[in-house]
Amino acid sequence: MIYRPRRLRKNPIVRDMTAEVRFHPDMLIYPHFVEKGKNIKEPISSMPGIHHFSPDTLIKDVEKGLKNGINKILLFGSGEEKTPEGKSAYTKDTVVAQAIKLLKKNFKEDIYIITDVCLCAYTDDGHCGIIHDGYVENDVSVEAIAKMALTHAQAGADMVAPSDMMDGRVGSIREILDKNKLENTAIMAYSIKFASAYYGPFREAADSAPQFGDRKSYQMDFRNPNEAMREAFLDETEGADVLMVKPALAYLDIVNRLRANTQLPLACYNVSGEYSMVKAAAAKGWLDERSIVMENMYAFARAGCGLIITYHARDIVEKGWT
Ligand code: PBG
Ligand code: ZN
Repeated sequence: MIYRPRRLRKNPIVRDMTAEVRFHPDMLIYPHFVEKGKNIKEPISSMPGIHHFSPDTLIKDVEKGLKNGINKILLFGSGEEKTPEGKSAYTKDTVVAQAIKLLKKNFKEDIYIITDVCLCAYTDDGHCGIIHDGYVENDVSVEAIAKMALTHAQAGADMVAPSDMMDGRVGSIREILDKNKLENTAIMAYSIKFASAYYGPFREAADSAPQFGDRKSYQMDFRNPNEAMREAFLDETEGADVLMVKPALAYLDIVNRLRANTQLPLACYNVSGEYSMVKAAAAKGWLDERSIVMENMYAFARAGCGLIITYHARDIVEKGWT
């Protein structure tokens, strides 16, 4: 036999030497839920290890993450007043704006703050845009979403991440930011976001479940890989700095295909349902958490993601899983 692939699998040294894909904690982005109020640290039951924080307690938790090298966070707001037009998403002192200001005051440029931009935690019907006659109307929603992005950027966010899936929102956000001299605030577009059952635990956490119908008139149909490429291309054309695919695990074919079709950095979002499945099975002793989490991280890297948004981020660095 001439070819014996097992030669290069003989021991850890040769396996590490010939590994084709590397993983580094710099790739990780950790999501946080910020809730209006004070002194809150409330566990989210369907996402073990994840909590709601008020801005004051968030600071302490972010500091702990920073000590372990988690310096990129994604903020979600909750607890604001819910109205048909979701105006509390962009009125002056939102909980997200407060959190950004407090984080920047404490950690300056040591923390890179990304904010989720979407109306679903602020509309009374829980939809990601503004409803007219039972339909989420695109252009009025985009206007509100752009205003929301502006308030985050003005508060000091480094990057805004629209997750609403309205048409044209990346372009509108870029325009409003530039007009306000915020040309250095970056945009990470939730470009290919599928209408997915994997968001279930998140909707409980963010109190953002749609009160009627579903999100299928704006989020993507998971049967459509070509349309997915088109969505990403549009965001790139409108000025997105980073493209994202969401969810991650069931959509690695999409990540891989997008990697071959764009020069932009690529992120994937390892979403709440994917996290909860691992946590639940690990709690039952049905699989080994550390092994499965790291196998998943390498799968994201292998598919072509340079950035990984994951609720596992803190466990990975704090428990030394790398
Ligand atoms: C809001 C938003 C959602 C997620 C991120 N931003 C929920 C949704 O679209 O219903 C999901 C994140 C997760 O499941 O971890 N548009
Ligand atoms: Zn939304």
